[in-house]
Amino acid sequence: MCGIIGYVGNKQAYPVLINGLYRLEYRGYDSAGVAIMNEEENELFLYKSQGKVSQLDAKITGKKTAGTIGIAHTRWATHGEPNDINAHPHSSQSGDLVIIHNGIIENYIPLKKELIGRGYSFKSDTDTEVLIQLIEDIQLNENLDLFEAVRSALNQVIGAYAILVFSRSNPDTLIAARKSSPLVIGKKMGEYFIASDPTPIVEYTKDVVYLNDEEIAIIKRNQDLRIKTIRNKDKTPYFEKLEMSLSALEKGGYDHFMLKEIFEQPHSVSNCMRGRLDPRKGSISLGGISDYLQKMTNADRILIIACGTSWHAGLVGEYLFEDLARIPVEVEYASEFRYRNPVISENDIVIVISQSGETADSLAAIKLAKSKGATIIGICNVVGSSISRASHAGSYTHAGPEIGVASTKAFTAQVTILTMMALLIGRKKGTITRSKYFQYIHELNQIPKKIKHVLKSNDDIWKIAENYKNTRNFLYLGRGYNFPVALEGALKLKEISYIHAEGYPAAEMKHGPIALIDEEMPVVVIATNKGTYEKVITNIMEVKARKGKIIAIITKGDETVKELADYYIEIPETEEFLVPLLATIPLQLLSYHMAILRGCNVDQPRNLAKSVTVE
Ligand code: G6P
Repeated sequence: MCGIIGYVGNKQAYPVLINGLYRLEYRGYDSAGVAIMNEEENELFLYKSQGKVSQLDAKITGKKTAGTIGIAHTRWATHGEPNDINAHPHSSQSGDLVIIHNGIIENYIPLKKELIGRGYSFKSDTDTEVLIQLIEDIQLNENLDLFEAVRSALNQVIGAYAILVFSRSNPDTLIAARKSSPLVIGKKMGEYFIASDPTPIVEYTKDVVYLNDEEIAIIKRNQDLRIKTIRNKDKTPYFEKLEMSLSALEKGGYDHFMLKEIFEQPHSVSNCMRGRLDPRKGSISLGGISDYLQKMTNADRILIIACGTSWHAGLVGEYLFEDLARIPVEVEYASEFRYRNPVISENDIVIVISQSGETADSLAAIKLAKSKGATIIGICNVVGSSISRASHAGSYTHAGPEIGVASTKAFTAQVTILTMMALLIGRKKGTITRSKYFQYIHELNQIPKKIKHVLKSNDDIWKIAENYKNTRNFLYLGRGYNFPVALEGALKLKEISYIHAEGYPAAEMKHGPIALIDEEMPVVVIATNKGTYEKVITNIMEVKARKGKIIAIITKGDETVKELADYYIEIPETEEFLVPLLATIPLQLLSYHMAILRGCNVDQPRNLAKSVTVE
């Protein structure tokens, strides 16, 4: 939610900043802006534009951008509509200070009133402008340097922030600070790159420091990095090496990141299992949770907490842990959990799932569960992210950077990790026999190959999309392991094609959604289940009796459903608990093609953002 980037060094800042904004655009794209200081001419160039980064880029073309220090921002609006004025950077009253901000200053209203009382005026509706005026007010009244003024201001604000600030009068230094919103600093010789995530940094340097909550960095050209806490304690910067390749951040010949990421799934699921699953020995090892495995095995219950697509993966996790390891599971929306006064004990295992590892509600849920003594196991894709660092232990999904806002390969990787955890615990508990364990591991190892097979249906799925592209409503039905798949299929369609879609447990259809069915209504049925196969056929018959159209996901060679369905997509046979890893793929492709045929921006759907760092 909002992407921020800054540069200070010896080269031109603008190319770093604008390229960085393009990389960060998935975090928010309703307006963008850049501020660059030209020391020689003592001039600050400040450009802002409503809309996408390309609009800002076009606006700046031909204008002055020379300077070696600057900050830039791409916004997902919270306070104030997305227009040029509310776009960041924001300046202080005197024009000396500029700021970019990701987060929310919750007490901005009383602070603003106070500042207005002291003669400050405001151009925008943002909470961010209040913060920069406050910093300036403190600096002037208390005669402090910029670091001290920022530190003092941050001690007065309530809320979340990742900020970058600099002053025209001291254009050698950037001040960066974070609380609840991410910030990473890359260093190369005398220059520094600061951003919301490493994607704009990796092409320049692999040496990075992740700022922790309530830390402030003093970043000076040609000098060592200094970090202090907002209580003014010195911290030693801890540099890590980025393990990210530049090619992972590019479309690699695909039209869209989403399509690339869908097609990467044979590879990303393999990557997730690499070094962990050994089909020859029939073993699974998850190094990141080994110290907590016994505790997980003995757990009376597991709580799974997540948002969005990660929540759907959590729901698959519920079926997996209950089925394979016989441990009761509750799956919670992080946003509900954190405000519900939930009953949590020291015996609880809380698994938090998050692609970005930055989702504000999930992070807050961790803090709550931790404060009650629960053990937190993180499942994150982004290495070094806040959630991974706030967890006691965990497993990375290693799916590689996911840029498309609608999550695809992260979901299958999350389900793969949950599958490995459930199998491992099930075996340790004795709820899975040795021979079954071998068989299951062997079959899990086949999944990447089978995903490759499913991807071959791409052209057929395009034809289905072509036929239904003008439909206004969709229903998705599944039972058992395929119920979460139905929810995820419906979410994908909503997110990127703006078609209303609902996912439902197939048997629940008769308690409401059946009233919606007529000849206009396509119903996507995931009809692969072994356990409830006949029951799903009954549900298909109920839809057909009301003239609804059936698009069925079926097991290869299933002639019965083939004959009943208007359209069908075949997936290879596998163990029932592994079906979500295959059945989700055609639904991702269906929503992708529907969105493209309807002229939607699939990688940056309206109103959404990839990393939701506000609650
Ligand atoms: C946003 C994204 C979704 C994602 C959800 C949770 O809504 O658009 O794709 O599933 O956040 O994000 P997380 O990073 O915690 O998995």
